Order: sequence, then structure tokens, then C-alpha cells
Amino acid sequence: MKIAVIGTGYVGLTTAVSLAMRGHEVTSVDIDQNKIEQLQRGILPIYEPDMDLALITLQQQGQLQFTSSLTGGAKDATVFIFCVGTPADETGKADLSYVFQGITELARTIPQGDGTRAIVLKSTCPIGTASRVADLLSNRTDLTVISNPEFLREGSALYDSLYPSRIVIGADSQAGYRFMEEVYAGFSSPKLFTTWNNAEMIKYASNAFLATKISFMNELSRLCDSANADVSVVAEGMGLDSRIGAEFLRAGIGYGGSCFPKDTHALVQTARDHQVELSIVQSVMEVNRTQPSWFLSKLPSLLGPLQGKKIALLGLSFKPNTDDIREAPSLSVIKSLREAGAIISAYDPAAMENMKRVFPDIQFENSAYNAIASADATILLTEWKELVDLDWRRVKQLMKSPVLLDGRNVWPMKSLAQMGFTYIGAGRRTS
Ligand code: UGA
Repeated sequence: MKIAVIGTGYVGLTTAVSLAMRGHEVTSVDIDQNKIEQLQRGILPIYEPDMDLALITLQQQGQLQFTSSLTGGAKDATVFIFCVGTPADETGKADLSYVFQGITELARTIPQGDGTRAIVLKSTCPIGTASRVADLLSNRTDLTVISNPEFLREGSALYDSLYPSRIVIGADSQAGYRFMEEVYAGFSSPKLFTTWNNAEMIKYASNAFLATKISFMNELSRLCDSANADVSVVAEGMGLDSRIGAEFLRAGIGYGGSCFPKDTHALVQTARDHQVELSIVQSVMEVNRTQPSWFLSKLPSLLGPLQGKKIALLGLSFKPNTDDIREAPSLSVIKSLREAGAIISAYDPAAMENMKRVFPDIQFENSAYNAIASADATILLTEWKELVDLDWRRVKQLMKSPVLLDGRNVWPMKSLAQMGFTYIGAGRRTS
């Protein structure tokens, strides 16, 4: 099938690559000429495992091409998949202007009467969007509108796209379903064929539910901390119940990224438009907003005033295996520590360039050990593998005082305590 994928962000690029790997002829489109030129030379604008090699191979095989113009290579596609951004506007609602601009442009570009084609919304769009797009295209009986939300995670985007947990297809016609059956013929994942509104709601509900699991555990971590229980063990015991499930129960400094914060906010705003109060989702957002300051409040009791104290921060990206710092807890941690007058030395395997643009004046080091040297305390913010498996003897020798704050509850608490570290996690600590 000839498929055009519009937008070259995480979702767009991964969708283009995975569909090309499954045998489709894919053209990836973006209005950013510069980005397209880089991609044509095999340079990825994002950090994502395995993607660079796949990109180069597919281009060499002629399965994947890049263009900055819809009228160029993309116009003879039969399926147009929109993966443009839907950022939050000032009220928290999803801003759909890129979606509507793109679709208007597409309708202008492709001639009518050339056979039926599908317009697929993969961008995260609030409930009612596909129906609005269909209204916009009501004079184009040749274009069928489909909602097909994406569930990939950054850091494992290509794997998630090739082996999705499920494929959700919202359409209002059998023709729409048939298009998508062909697009996903090479995928063995379960497929759910449903309405536009259900498909759109599934996306927001899934992200809000995962965020709820995390905030539930984060709030519980505060109680575990006071009541002398270990939230990691509590999570393990809960997760053994298959009705609860073991994933997304890890307490810590809070969730970040471009999805959970934005999508919970947008869902609450959509609910308000429908005069519905989503109090659970609002509490989820509030717990996440306050979790970094709750976690950091442990520091002064160990170190006294933070003015002039050296604090090492390990990990800056919102999760491992990405350079993405959008809504990362590290942002609010750096802000608070600076306000308290602490000296910050930071290290991240991939996200330092991005963080330098936000906080150019903190000290960035080229290894975890350099960041830790003479620190009064070390805080783990992202569980990159190399930051989990540290040489603890070396760490102990390098630090000025052996105080560790584990913002991801992944460091080996018991052995660290035996080595003489003061260990504090989120809802777990050495006595
Ligand atoms: C999330 C969803 O997991 C994807 O299914 C979805 O497609 C994507 O949003 C999206 O809407 O595009 P992503 O934001 O890439 O994916 O990352 P996650 O792995 O979900 O992690 C999000 C945040 O939650 C991270 O900051 C992570 O550290 C945090 N987290 C995750 C926890 O604090 N505890 C956990 O147990 C799990």
C-alpha cells in the first residue's frame, strides 16, 4: 500500500518506519524542510533505540522516503496518516490547529474522483475530533475518516509500533475498516474495530489510567514513609494480583513526558466542556505536581540549609533511553534546588544538551562519577541502566557525605545501608 505519514515527531517517524518494515511504500511528510533534509541523510531528530539503522536501511531499500511537500511524493498515497502535534493550549485543551491545517491542505491537494482514500488521525485528538474532520470533509465522499490512536512509549517506540498491545480503529464505514485491515495486515496484535468517539476516548482513558496507577502509588509512598512501610514491597504484593497488574506501580519522583501531563489535563478540560468533573484525574495531576517537592523536602533534615551545598543529579530525561526532557521531574527539582541556593552538578547519558538550553548555568559533567565527586547528596531522577548499576565503593569514596536520594526506587537499599550510605527512596528508607 502507498501510505503517507504526516509529521515527523516520535509518533510520525516510528509509524513511518514500522509500516515500511511491514512492507508498505511509505512517504514521510513534514513542512520543516531542514528536518526533512536531515532525515534524507539518515539523521534522526530524536534519540530512540534502533531507529537510526532502520531508517537508513529502509531508505536504501526504497521503502521509505521523505518529502516536505504533500504535492510531491505523497499525493498518490491511498492512506494519509496524521501524526502532527496536538500541544496543550493555555487552558490545557489540545490545540488541533496542526491537524486541521494539514487536513485542509490535503483536501486541496488531492483531486477528487481518483478512488477512495483514507484520512487517519493518529495524533492524540480529543473525543469528537474525527467527527469534526468528517464534517469539514463532508463534500469529499472519496475521503473516509479514521481514528487510530497510538500507544507507543518513548525509549521503546519501534518495538511498541511493530508489536502493539492492541490496534484500535475507529471508523463510521466498512470501507474505513477495510483500509485499516490492509494497513495492519502484517501485524498480529488484537484489533478493536469501533466508533470514532470510542477510539478517541480509549487513548485518553488509557494514559489517564496509567497516570492514576503511578499517582496512587506516589501518594501511598508518602504514607509508607510516615508509617514505616516499604512501598516497593507493597507494590510487589499488589502486582501479584492479576486484576491489579504489576506494571506502572513504581513510586518515585513523579511522571513526566509529553503525554501523561498533557493528556490528563486535556481529558479534564474535555470533561468540563461536557459539564463533567473528573475528580480522580484531577487528584492524579495534583499528586504528580506536588511529588517532587514532597521528595525534596527530605533533604534539609539530612543536610541542614541547602545554601552552598553540592547536590549531584543523576538522570535528567523524563525516563530512560530518551533525550526528552518535556515535563521531566528534573526541571522542577533543578528550579527548587537553585532557589534554595544549592550548587548543582548534573549528568545524563543523552539529555544534557536539551537541559543546557533550559538551565545553561548549572554544572554539567561527562560522567556520573564526575557529577558525584564531593557532593553532599546524590539524587537519582532517571533510572538509566548505567545510573542504576553504579560502582558503589567508588561513589562512597567520591562523595563528601554518603547521602543518596533514590527518586526512582531502584537502587539496592539494603546493601547501600550496609555500606554506610544514608538511603532515602520515595516511600522506602533505611531505618
Ligand atoms: C506513555 C504511554 O505509556 C504510552 O502507551 C503512550 O502511547 C504514550 O504515553 C503517548 O501517549 O504517546 P511515555 O510517555 O513514552 O508513554 O512513557 P511511559 O513509559 O508511559 O512513562 C511515563 C512517565 O511515567 C515517565 O516519567 C516514567 O518515569 C513514569 N513512570 C512510569 C513512573 O513514575 N512509574 C511507573 O511505574 C511507570
